[in-house]
Amino acid sequence: MSLSILNVEDARKAARKRLPRMIFDYIDGAAGTERLNALNQSVFDTCRLQPRVLVNVENRRLSKTILGQTFDLPFGISPMGMCNLAWPGADFMLADAAARHNIPVCLSTMGSSTIEDMRNRAGDNCWFQLYVGASVSEAMNLVDRAEKAGYTHLILSVDVPVVAQRQRDVRNGFKAPLQIGPRQFIDFATHPVWSVSSLLKGVPKLANIEQNAPDGEKFNRDAGRGATDWSFLEKLRARWPHQLIIKGVMSVDDAVKIKEFGADAVYVSNHGGRQLESAPTALEALVNIRAAVGDHYPLLFDSGIRSGESVVKALACGADFVFMGRPFSYAIGAGQQNGLQQLIELFSREISSVIAQLGYSDIEKINAFCLADSQMLSNAQRG
Ligand SMILES: Cc1cc2nc3c(=O)[nH]c(=O)nc-3n(C[C@H](O)[C@H](O)[C@H](O)COP(=O)(O)O)c2cc1C
Repeated sequence: MSLSILNVEDARKAARKRLPRMIFDYIDGAAGTERLNALNQSVFDTCRLQPRVLVNVENRRLSKTILGQTFDLPFGISPMGMCNLAWPGADFMLADAAARHNIPVCLSTMGSSTIEDMRNRAGDNCWFQLYVGASVSEAMNLVDRAEKAGYTHLILSVDVPVVAQRQRDVRNGFKAPLQIGPRQFIDFATHPVWSVSSLLKGVPKLANIEQNAPDGEKFNRDAGRGATDWSFLEKLRARWPHQLIIKGVMSVDDAVKIKEFGADAVYVSNHGGRQLESAPTALEALVNIRAAVGDHYPLLFDSGIRSGESVVKALACGADFVFMGRPFSYAIGAGQQNGLQQLIELFSREISSVIAQLGYSDIEKINAFCLADSQMLSNAQRG
């Protein structure tokens, strides 16, 4: 099947055809009525960029330095649990693409591949994302494993004290690890290519949790992760000597406090609208947080990026580096390595074209003056 990804929606539509309904819905879905996911994307339309002319932009640089590393592109792959549901071997496809294009890939605690395997595959491009479940010692064990494997960047995700209700998952009977009853069986049978490939490779597992705890098979994704508090952050900061990033921050006060606690960066994100449906859009939170933490404190960003223009807008609104989640899973569902390659090339082309039209030749120079919208501009400049 020939695949041509000219925008993220192309990849999404192709993935929707190829994946069983339950799997597509797990990736695509969001909390409640899913309005925040839509708003995260549409808020970018309210932010306009200012074209500039008569600037020599023939040679353009898209490489960006963040937290001690220089990447070839200003975006990376957000942590996502159970990526291998999108296609068998998806984690390794992401790791290989990250290494090839020199972009970061974040491995989730809920990933389908181990901390060690992903590091071997993607090297320094792989960052590890930690969830703290019921057991703090189990979490610290994961941190020790990450350090031993050579990781230099640890992301603590703090926006899932409980897993929010995602109605499509409830309706489809989605569980992790997968439980396959008659309804799911029919869904899988009508998507034979995915199903046969998954059967041959084995149903994806929560590789790190299983390896960490012998009773990992029984890990309950819906169990509370609400014990992660400021005292845990203090312990983790003392324990982890490398780059520490706190993900899922939407409040100005929290961001300022996290900075005071000595974290190296705040990762502004509302989990792609998968948690609190009534939260602000991530882009609005970014502008406010940038104003509060000052110009130089590193801010990472995700939630709602669907084009190269959105990447540039997020940078102009105060992000130092941008991540995306679903678009990468759609690309894999649509066309595996080929889909990923097309998506990354698409974003590279778009970003390069956008900065040229703004009169910039270096992505590092993008700033609030690239914004045409005066309200956004004055907010973004307040810092
Ligand atoms: C299928 C899926 C699984 C996710 N799993 C995790 C996870 O394990 N850890 C985490 O910190 N965030 C997780 N997220 C949230 C992403 O890291 C990211 O914040 C979100 O996808 C960004 O929004 P976007 O999809 O609009 O780019 C997940 C998102 C998706 C779509």
